[in-house]
Amino acid sequence: MTVLRISRPDLFLIGFLLCATGVVSGQFQLEPLNSTVLQGSDAQFNASVQGKWNIMTWEVRGFLVLTFPFTGNVISSSKQFSANFCSSVDTSCVAFTIHNVTRGGQAGPVVCTIQGDYGSKTAQLYVQESGTVNVKGGNVTVVQHQQVEFQCVTSAWFPTATVSWTRNGQAVNNSLYNTTSMADGETFNASSVLRFQAISNATVECRATVLSLASPESSSVFLVVVPKPPDWTVLIAVVVSIGGFALLVLLIIGIIFCCKRREEKQANDRDEMRAKTHSQISGGSAAGNRRGQENAGYVPEDQASVAPSKITDSGFSQASGAEVHEVAVNTNQTGNVYSGAHITAGESGVRKHRHLTIV
Ligand SMILES: *[C@@H]1O[C@H](CO)[C@@H](O)[C@H](O)[C@H]1NC(C)=O
Ligand SMILES: *[C@@H]1O[C@H](CO)[C@@H](O)[C@H](O)[C@H]1NC(C)=O
Ligand SMILES: *[C@@H]1O[C@H](CO)[C@@H](O)[C@H](O)[C@H]1NC(C)=O
Ligand SMILES: *[C@@H]1O[C@H](CO)[C@@H](O)[C@H](O)[C@H]1NC(C)=O
Ligand SMILES: *[C@@H]1O[C@H](CO)[C@@H](O)[C@H](O)[C@H]1NC(C)=O
Ligand SMILES: *[C@@H]1O[C@H](CO)[C@@H](O)[C@H](O)[C@H]1NC(C)=O
Repeated sequence: MTVLRISRPDLFLIGFLLCATGVVSGQFQLEPLNSTVLQGSDAQFNASVQGKWNIMTWEVRGFLVLTFPFTGNVISSSKQFSANFCSSVDTSCVAFTIHNVTRGGQAGPVVCTIQGDYGSKTAQLYVQESGTVNVKGGNVTVVQHQQVEFQCVTSAWFPTATVSWTRNGQAVNNSLYNTTSMADGETFNASSVLRFQAISNATVECRATVLSLASPESSSVFLVVVPKPPDWTVLIAVVVSIGGFALLVLLIIGIIFCCKRREEKQANDRDEMRAKTHSQISGGSAAGNRRGQENAGYVPEDQASVAPSKITDSGFSQASGAEVHEVAVNTNQTGNVYSGAHITAGESGVRKHRHLTIV
């Protein structure tokens, strides 16, 4: 069995300490002890007192700004500070409000003191500033699959703004952007660069915020993605190569044609040669045959002009719409009259030119 041996003076000391701490902390509470608000808004602190009290004072940044007697006659250094009972029925709680806070004016310690044995309590007021946000360059039009870059600039924020991006309302992976911040006097500017490959049309939004801001400040632009235009170099290359190929084919056809013609000509020459040598051997009868034939188309002039239709009947070979040149040579026995007929057959009928040459 263990016997707790505590001397009487020790017990008294413990009892006194418990009592003392109980009295100080239990009778007076300040809330919140840390407050972060946006510049221009109101900051409020509540003091809850257990027990009877007479005068409460508030200091901001070391200056006494407000005195609140339990009886109610509030003395304030300016309209910016006010205090009230938390509710009309609860006189144990006082709400102290700083209106339209500014970082330069009120940020810092806020001290509440209750006269008597209560002592003082200190809270901290932090003031943040929301500045501007702007996506530089406005709307962007790019070719599909091209790398696109956006720059967002935030100015006059305190502390430095937290920048994020959205694409069509969806958060962009933070590996796609870099944000750098720089001090500008008492505030901060920041620059964020977003890069990605343009796939489809999108609304790109830059958002900047600080903790005390309920909803972020934002700036957005439109990304218009146009389809990739045809690659002209490829097109030109294709056209050139097809053209070259066609030329080559034409050249080959031409060469083949020429060769054939030459071969034919050579064959004809050979035939002629053979014929000539044959005629020389057979003695002029073949040559006489070749020299001339009966002119079947010969008609006396008067007849022809009266009835042109007869001409066609009389043995001219004709094709409708085509020009027919037939030069017939009439060699009679004397061989001194040659007649040439040049007939043109058209849609309008048959025209006839006659050249008569007498030798
Ligand atoms: C808030 O304080 C600023 C700076 O002291 C002043 O310019 C502004 O008019 C005040 N706004 C209101 C609503 O009192
Ligand atoms: C961007 O495009 C939107 C819609 O097409 C238009 O309303 C807006 O005025 C444009 N902004 C600029 C800066 O051109
Ligand atoms: C963001 O991108 C990185 C690298 O590209 C990847 O590892 C990560 O999973 C992505 N995060 C989200 C939320 O998509
Ligand atoms: C961000 O910066 C880092 C280092 O400077 C670089 O490697 C990375 O590519 C940058 N990312 C973007 C999206 O600019
Ligand atoms: C911060 O931004 C403001 C407004 O855009 C500009 O006038 C100022 O020069 C910037 N400061 C720095 C340090 O970049
Ligand atoms: C983007 O929108 C424009 C018209 O605003 C349209 O001409 C274009 O085809 C669209 N691009 C894509 C990839 O949908």
